[in-house]
Amino acid sequence: MITCFKDDRSEKMRATDNYLKTLLSYYEEEIEGEAYFYGLVEHFEEQEKLTVLARVERRAAESVVPLLEKYELVPRDESELKIRGEGYVGRHASFDWFEFMTYMVNRYPGYLEDFTALERMAPEEDLCALNDLTDHEVAAIAFAKRELAGDPDSLAPLYDYLDPRR
Ligand SMILES: [Fe+2]
Repeated sequence: MITCFKDDRSEKMRATDNYLKTLLSYYEEEIEGEAYFYGLVEHFEEQEKLTVLARVERRAAESVVPLLEKYELVPRDESELKIRGEGYVGRHASFDWFEFMTYMVNRYPGYLEDFTALERMAPEEDLCALNDLTDHEVAAIAFAKRELAGDPDSLAPLYDYLDPRR
């Protein structure tokens, strides 16, 4: 019986470890994402849109900062994350805008699944902050879909995310 109890405990410990590791890496990826979108500004005419996407990434990262503090998780240095993020620019620098928006519509639902998986690992009290993180991906996908549809108000989901009271 004691062995069973121990196994159960270590199972829970692993889950928590995985949650914290994932939480930290998702925070870091948002900071990298900010640098990535700012980096793409040089390659597209849609500079305002990319700037808003970069701001959404920062805002998504900020939404989980209280969780990082709560668990005493220390992210890599911002300068390192910035360099990593800028390193991803080359992958999409030769895309045209339509290709890039299509890529977002096809790829970002995968990220959305990752965020909802993180929510499933989380203790209930963390869900409010994590929902905020998840919502930024919903907004980004909605934006890209609107872009492909030629909606002149495509930025609305992103602005709503940045300022829900606007
Ligand atoms: Fe993001």
